[in-house]
Amino acid sequence: MKRSKIAGIGHYVPEKRVTNHDLVKLMDTSDEWIQERTGIVERRYAEKHKETTSTMGTKAARIAMERAGVTNDDIDFIIFATLSPDYYFPGCGVLTQRELGIKGIGALDIRNQCSGFVYGLSVADQFIKSGMYKTILLIGAEYHSCGLDYTTRGRNVSVIFGDGAGAVVLKATENENEGVLSTHLHADGTDAEKLMYENPGCHGGVHKKEDKLYDFDDDEPEFGGIFTTKKMMSNKSYAPYMEGPAVFKFAVKKFPEVIMEALTSNGMTTEDLDMLIPHQANLRISQFVQSMLKIPDEKVYNNIQKYGNTTAASIPIALCEAWEAGKVKDGDLVCLAAFGSGFTWASALLRW
Ligand code: COA
Repeated sequence: MKRSKIAGIGHYVPEKRVTNHDLVKLMDTSDEWIQERTGIVERRYAEKHKETTSTMGTKAARIAMERAGVTNDDIDFIIFATLSPDYYFPGCGVLTQRELGIKGIGALDIRNQCSGFVYGLSVADQFIKSGMYKTILLIGAEYHSCGLDYTTRGRNVSVIFGDGAGAVVLKATENENEGVLSTHLHADGTDAEKLMYENPGCHGGVHKKEDKLYDFDDDEPEFGGIFTTKKMMSNKSYAPYMEGPAVFKFAVKKFPEVIMEALTSNGMTTEDLDMLIPHQANLRISQFVQSMLKIPDEKVYNNIQKYGNTTAASIPIALCEAWEAGKVKDGDLVCLAAFGSGFTWASALLRW
């Protein structure tokens, strides 16, 4: 049976480092609070007006393609995962396709937030297994710093997120001893609004639990006038919203479940695992999951300390760094696990 394998991997993070001390100048927070609750020391921010989600994604993609030894002509399909696209539409897939100079092939955008890369990997894997495509470029990238609330009001969210991109080239292989062994995707929309980017948007207040549509203008026209409003601007409801403790609780339950699902469905245990790459949501979440599953330190890769939470980019950036450092080697059993807004959660088991 055909399998898909990661033939090349690359990542890109912007040069600008923003430390916790830099954020202290903008809001009521402290280096101690941020490090103690999240493990984050610094994060990278894209260069305004010069970089975007798609340009960072393209840089990571070029590295992945070079390492996979493929050219534009070899790529059959592009999948781009992000929650911070350059445009509301069209998606970053076509922008990356244009920037790479590839014409005519399909480009799909994935909107599954922190689980986006693993969802994208699963989609790519099915296309390759079915024989539809042989070589797929999968990218996860984010430009969070363009839209965070850097006042004290937004501090629980803005200290966590950073910018960056990661990419892989997936290729078909007939070798049963390598590649993606399985992927596992889940979602539960019950708490969709607990971690969200509410505005601008077309929701028109329909999903709100309260009956007060406080983001909408009193002089709203008969048609339209709900996507962006004057009240959204004055309420600053265009910045991400997060109920941190609720997200934390759900994450520490779902991460272990989905990791064990990947292992047990392949007849394996945590003992067989060589490397766990958890989505870099919060170092405390990763540590909690690691201790629940009794996985030793050398088998878990974390880099949130340097980059913050880069959402769809976090897993490919971490996987790329782990591979570059020689911590992921040929034949290793690697588990990728993600959790995020939606809520969505997912895992993938790979033989490197
Ligand atoms: N600096 C200082 N104080 C802050 C702060 C910041 N950046 N952010 C929030 N606080 C304050 C709160 O206002 C609150 O103050 P109060 O007690 O006076 O009301 C206090 O710290 C505790 O807030 P709480 O939200 O309960 O903190 P917490 O211990 O849950 O930690 C998170 C907050 C966000 C770090 C934590 O909930 C978390 O990591 N959640 C998961 C987030 C995540 O992973 N998101 C991405 C998912 S993909």
